[in-house]
Amino acid sequence: MFSDKDISHFANVETPFYHYDLTLLQKTLSTCADAAKLYNFHVHYAMKANFNPRVLEKIKAVGFGADCVSGGEVKKAIEVGFAKDQIVFAGVGKSDKEINSALDNDIFCFNVESIQELEVINELAANKNKKARVAIRINPNVDAHTHHNITTGLDENKFGINSWDLPSCAETLKKSANLEFIGIHFHIGSQITNLEVYKNLCVRVNEFAQWFEERGFIVKVLNVGGGLGIDYHNPEQQVPDFSAYFKIFSDFLEIKASQEVHFELGRALVGQCASLISKVLYIKNGKKKNFVVLDAGMTELMRPALYQAYHKIENLTRGTETSMKYDIVGPICESTDCFGKEVEQPETFRGDLYAIRSAGAYGEVMASKYNLRDEIRSVYSDQI
Ligand code: LLP
Repeated sequence: MFSDKDISHFANVETPFYHYDLTLLQKTLSTCADAAKLYNFHVHYAMKANFNPRVLEKIKAVGFGADCVSGGEVKKAIEVGFAKDQIVFAGVGKSDKEINSALDNDIFCFNVESIQELEVINELAANKNKKARVAIRINPNVDAHTHHNITTGLDENKFGINSWDLPSCAETLKKSANLEFIGIHFHIGSQITNLEVYKNLCVRVNEFAQWFEERGFIVKVLNVGGGLGIDYHNPEQQVPDFSAYFKIFSDFLEIKASQEVHFELGRALVGQCASLISKVLYIKNGKKKNFVVLDAGMTELMRPALYQAYHKIENLTRGTETSMKYDIVGPICESTDCFGKEVEQPETFRGDLYAIRSAGAYGEVMASKYNLRDEIRSVYSDQI
């Protein structure tokens, strides 16, 4: 909910921009940190969800580590001040340059996604006379029951090492003098709202941990990834139920006293803390459709165009009483540049302010320069 003060401030700022509610972000982070502490669970923030500097500053301050998927993210995590021994590096396509730089920085661990990658990390670590800590990302073939574009843990997905390749993975680990195996890693998908899915994941994690231990490996880290979803239909339901989420892992994982459980949360931590604020450029009333044309488009928030993702859309100028249905579109030369079809709204006029809610995760970071658009600006709640 935006206050009248927020809205009158927005009227004086050049649109479009992302508005960050830093108080809500802080509340979300503290709630998550407290819930994790109860079980002694470790949280690494999945930086890909949002690497806005003010956001990262708060996340670092709460004591979380960083889950990175590129050399750029590892570099940024170090610059921002995340402890190097709390940085993990995942991704199916780590380049030699990225691996070398992560080795030079002595990050906590590589989450390795193929046998060939294991061989390359071993070789590059040997060149530096180092031992690289590695966790094996296993594809557990667990259906996350989410949008197929953001499912990652099925046999047909490119992520992780498949179960039938584990014997040869174990062989490679045994003969690689410059690798130190520390554990196993999973990530089955994103925007998971059915927590039952995580029970199935726990069953598989237990099986795979046992498989490695039976072969003489010590599994110190059980990294179960991220994926906890948020309620896009109800942005006021702002803080996800971290207690219920962590409890599932406490109840269903077989955790030894010597083991650490790691999580990689992105969306659940930052998703509700930002909105994309945009101004109405034009109203086009057609025979079949009425269009609201905003000054923000898919270049600022790509999720609706890319995944047909739902984001709640609010007219901040006219209130909540609806009388019209509009397709809410952006200015980009693509028909998919649409934030919502037949959306119920108050009668809308040129100059009205619109908020597209729950845009804190995979919003600003996925902005593009397509159509040579200006870089998107940010406004923070503590500046108002
Ligand atoms: N760990 C790994 C290995 C991942 O690949 C991801 C997300 C995460 C953790 C964090 O997942 P989260 O907790 O945020 O669900 N752009 C898409 C989402 C892509 C997610 C990619 N991987 C979207 O806008 O919905």
